[in-house]
Amino acid sequence: MKASARVNANIALVKYWGKKNNQLIIPMNNSISMTTDGLHATTTVEFDEGLKKDNFELNETSYNKGTEYTNLVSFLDVVRMKAGKEMHAKVVSKTNFLTAAGLASSAAGYAALAKACNEALNLNLNDKELSMLARHGSGSASRSIFGGFVEWFKGEKEDGSDSYAEQLYNKEHWPDFRMIACITSKEAKQIKSRAGMKQTVETSPFYHAWIDSVEADLNAMRKGLKEKDFSLVGKTAEYNCLKMHATMITTKPSIIYWNAATMGLLHSIPKWREQGLECYFTMDAGPQVKIICLEKDVEEIIDNCKTLPGVVDFIVTAPGEGAKIIDKHLF
Ligand code: PMV
Repeated sequence: MKASARVNANIALVKYWGKKNNQLIIPMNNSISMTTDGLHATTTVEFDEGLKKDNFELNETSYNKGTEYTNLVSFLDVVRMKAGKEMHAKVVSKTNFLTAAGLASSAAGYAALAKACNEALNLNLNDKELSMLARHGSGSASRSIFGGFVEWFKGEKEDGSDSYAEQLYNKEHWPDFRMIACITSKEAKQIKSRAGMKQTVETSPFYHAWIDSVEADLNAMRKGLKEKDFSLVGKTAEYNCLKMHATMITTKPSIIYWNAATMGLLHSIPKWREQGLECYFTMDAGPQVKIICLEKDVEEIIDNCKTLPGVVDFIVTAPGEGAKIIDKHLF
């Protein structure tokens, strides 16, 4: 009844922002991501007849009320329904990076929890089914089940049974592809993605433009990844991320995740590109900037970033592997 899993975070190259169904977590559009090899969550779950309620600890902090706790219990309810069991669970999770700061910690955490629950309760779910289960914790978690480059399908069915992720290419497909996470703030964000995207769908007048243009980005990204056309992948990811942030900024009330150091990077990266250093940016629901580049340019890019004020740390990631069960438990 106890199992542990380790899962890498993923960063989207074509983003997901907005749900068709908030309950079942069905996205408005497909998204494409890279699973990283540098940012991971480790989670241990134990289902126990003796527990009176679910217990949750994340990075040595216990939660027994509030949004984090409620979301966890809702996820475990989905698991319990699948398993036909009513037992409560103890969940302990650790990340090797900042949480709630736009670094996809919930994606790694919920994918790890889904994988560990599958093992602990002998659910025998395959990876496609696991990605659908992970989706119930955090939409982007569906993509972290797989390694390499991954697409999550919005699906067509009302019950979400065709909204799952699938690997496009494994991590060996493009071994010198890199994402450098530039940390510009270590503080937790004010607006969580779940609440933020709901507000965007409801209030941003730009939201329809995001949806109308995302299919073209998906096609360009699929082509760029297939042909390993770095410029096409980089340009598409950068523009797609700016369009997503345009919908965030035009939400009522406005959601602006960027800080001064974020802006410094956004101004500098295109300039470095003009000077012949090919790199692009992408950003999620937080102030961190992920620089997309090739391995040969990592050192020069980091040296350049160090000249900018406010960039406090760097995490270099390459395409990583998918979810795996581990023997070492956290409790
Ligand atoms: O899956 P969530 O609820 O953590 O939302 C993720 C949203 C973005 O990170 C901004 C985009 C994405 O596709 O990962």
